[in-house]
Amino acid sequence: MKRLALVTGGNRGLGFEACRQLAKNGIDVILTSRDAKKGQAAADELKSAGLPVTFHQLDVNSEQSITDLKNFIEKEHGRLDILVNNAGVMIDRKNNGDEYPSVLKAELETFRQTMESNVFGVLRLCQVFIPLMKKNNYGRIVNVSSGMGQLSYMSGGWPAYRVSKTALNSLTAILAYEVKDTNILINSVCPGWVKTEMGGPNATRNVEEGVDTMVYLATLPDNGPRGKLLRDRQIIAW
Ligand SMILES: NC(=O)c1ccc[n+]([C@@H]2O[C@H](COP(=O)([O-])OP(=O)(O)OC[C@H]3O[C@@H](n4cnc5c(N)ncnc54)[C@H](OP(=O)(O)O)[C@@H]3O)[C@@H](O)[C@H]2O)c1
Repeated sequence: MKRLALVTGGNRGLGFEACRQLAKNGIDVILTSRDAKKGQAAADELKSAGLPVTFHQLDVNSEQSITDLKNFIEKEHGRLDILVNNAGVMIDRKNNGDEYPSVLKAELETFRQTMESNVFGVLRLCQVFIPLMKKNNYGRIVNVSSGMGQLSYMSGGWPAYRVSKTALNSLTAILAYEVKDTNILINSVCPGWVKTEMGGPNATRNVEEGVDTMVYLATLPDNGPRGKLLRDRQIIAW
């Protein structure tokens, strides 16, 4: 059975590479992006390499955009097997202007915007697509988190981003618990420090390495982990 995957923030970085790798695994991929031009161009690039990738617009902050996508998927496919919640922002430094964005100077607006994209968007997409997954009793949801959200290793700086990823992990655990009697496996992943626009040029991993555990979790067997945080295919501490 050919699986259908949806990736958020698929126009660049880890999201784009996840689309490529999932499609290379024979999965039909809907690459989504908030910017239609960039998203279409990214999907065309993968399509022209012979990969089964299509584009649909999605701004995870927009209720209308989420509803449009839901209607499209229900009408055209009637199913969704894999959801990769990859879209995310890290705006602490940009918003507070300092090289080291301290919690002592953080503005609530930075927290609000960060939570909106990194947590509330994921919540809404899960609320919309888990019922569809339940219909087929199959689903794999990958919430792209970060070691910066691990409570066990919490340190300073980038407070809005850190708090958003801790909250995302909590959401992963709550959702996974609520679907524990189904074949829907929901996990968080830390991709490591990856060379993307967000990670910057000094990051230690390339995007292929970064998406490895994302793709692993997106294609888990039925007895795979649920409600966990993983890095390098291993469960790590929250
Ligand atoms: N790179 C790292 O080292 C690293 C480490 C740990 C975790 N992560 C996580 O990995 C994920 C991907 O990050 P990345 O490194 O690939 O960063 P990136 O290159 O900055 O890409 C972020 C993606 O998210 C999209 N996005 C942001 N807000 C959105 C919205 N409201 N609706 C839809 N799309 C939105 C961006 O779209 P636009 O192009 O339109 O802005 C872009 O496609 C993020 O969740 C990030 O927190 C990254």
